[in-house]
Amino acid sequence: MTNLLENEKRIAGIKAVNFVKSGMVLGLGTGSTVRYFLEALAEKVNGGMDIIGVPTSKKTEQLAISLGIKTSNSTDHVDLTIDGADEIDHSGRMIKGGGGALFKERIVASHSNEIVIVCDHSKYVETLGKFPVPVEISPFMELLTIKMIGKLCPNVTLRNNGEFLTDQGNHIVDCNFDNIENPEETYQILRSVPGVVDVGIFLHMKPTLILGEKGYAREIKLGENVTSERT
Ligand code: A5P
Repeated sequence: MTNLLENEKRIAGIKAVNFVKSGMVLGLGTGSTVRYFLEALAEKVNGGMDIIGVPTSKKTEQLAISLGIKTSNSTDHVDLTIDGADEIDHSGRMIKGGGGALFKERIVASHSNEIVIVCDHSKYVETLGKFPVPVEISPFMELLTIKMIGKLCPNVTLRNNGEFLTDQGNHIVDCNFDNIENPEETYQILRSVPGVVDVGIFLHMKPTLILGEKGYAREIKLGENVTSERT
């Protein structure tokens, strides 16, 4: 990671705090960009802002608590989620799960009234697929699950040879497609394999993207056939 990209993450993460209002239930994403957001949010919380965070991973939960942010895993709604992405296209479709947190990230994002994605400019792409799609699988009979996934994807790797465990105690396989022409179809096909718990392709979420770009952050509203930009 170059200093340039790291700085873009920082700028994007910090800008996302502008979306937060006191009283909100906030989905807290996972990853190094969200970390910048959480640090900036903690300053607001320490200054009196009252929010409850719903963490999408144990890692985020620990970080939020250490920063003095209140957390809960059982709220009755989520107002806004701030999360990162591994790739996001111009329709707002995403690859997520590089950190292995896709399962909870999907639950929280799906129930969220609004989603803001923070990332550096390298992740905003024309076509998804350069980043391998993380697929969470149950360890039960996983050799057969992996074999079946291998028939759908030419290049499948069991993350850390099976030493990587998700918060749910599952494994991740990373599926390298290089170029995903139809993300909806790829999602459906992978999801239908028995043993697959979740697939790191996120669709129909209509996120607002905060994209770090050199010295500033662009704000872009994404969705099917919608792209608008605010500075
Ligand atoms: C976590 O599982 C992912 O979905 C992250 O949101 C994604 O990997 C982005 O992480 P970084 O901000 O560290 O690039």
